[in-house]
Amino acid sequence: MKGVILAGGLGTRLYPLTYATNKHLLPIYDKPMIYYPIQTLVKAEIKEILVVVSGPHSGHFIHVLKNGKEFGVEHLEFAYQEKPDGGIADALAVAEDFADNKPITVILGDNTTDADISVPLKKFIDGAMVFLKKVPDPKRFGVPRFDPKDNSKIIEIIEKPKNPPSNYAVTGLYVYDNKVFDFIQKCDPSYIGRGELEITQVNNFYLKENKLHWAELNGYWLDAGTFDSLFLSNQYWAKKKNSKL
Ligand code: TTP
Repeated sequence: MKGVILAGGLGTRLYPLTYATNKHLLPIYDKPMIYYPIQTLVKAEIKEILVVVSGPHSGHFIHVLKNGKEFGVEHLEFAYQEKPDGGIADALAVAEDFADNKPITVILGDNTTDADISVPLKKFIDGAMVFLKKVPDPKRFGVPRFDPKDNSKIIEIIEKPKNPPSNYAVTGLYVYDNKVFDFIQKCDPSYIGRGELEITQVNNFYLKENKLHWAELNGYWLDAGTFDSLFLSNQYWAKKKNSKL
């Protein structure tokens, strides 16, 4: 399967750090943030990767990633999202040619995890798959509501709910079949009122067609988009590396 890393956005919550460069090139312990999602994909045998970039520091990526060979990536491509704050689904739309009508694994560039996703990827047939993780602060994320009669079934995903219906977050790791690009066309920028094309709306389109699968992400996972989560990610990865020495 091919992989897509979404590394657009403006990273406004990390101003003034992101005045200097793109969020995904900031350090998490001893590596630029984007190395982590690349490693997650390579560990799952994904070696053809598209990195979607946007915003004022888009040109910085090439100096850091070069042709991807040092990570074990066989083919590395870049694509440009015209509207840097168009939303996650807007960023994914530019991956349509790269996907070439086949399923793709998508990861947000600020998500770091040590989970191994190769087993669920091998089982993927069609539709979409989201990876869930229990979190202490679900209000920050897309949150699934499970069917009270069958708690293996998601009936709705709510973006940043005031009253979260579960303690699970939809993490920034997804697998989609080629219908994703039709669903993105149907996304409404006013979906939750912030003018972005929301990946939660895309996931809910799959749900309506009974085609949204989910798996629990086994392992550490955190996004690094706020000062607190960036700090916690740095701590986790520093500890993990030093405990191996
Ligand atoms: P967010 O953290 O929601 O957005 P952001 O990175 O612009 O940060 P902020 O809210 O602080 O301004 O996005 C999560 C990831 O999704 C981000 O790391 C990269 C990707 N993304 C895009 O590729 N394009 C976009 O338009 C947005 C909003 C996000």
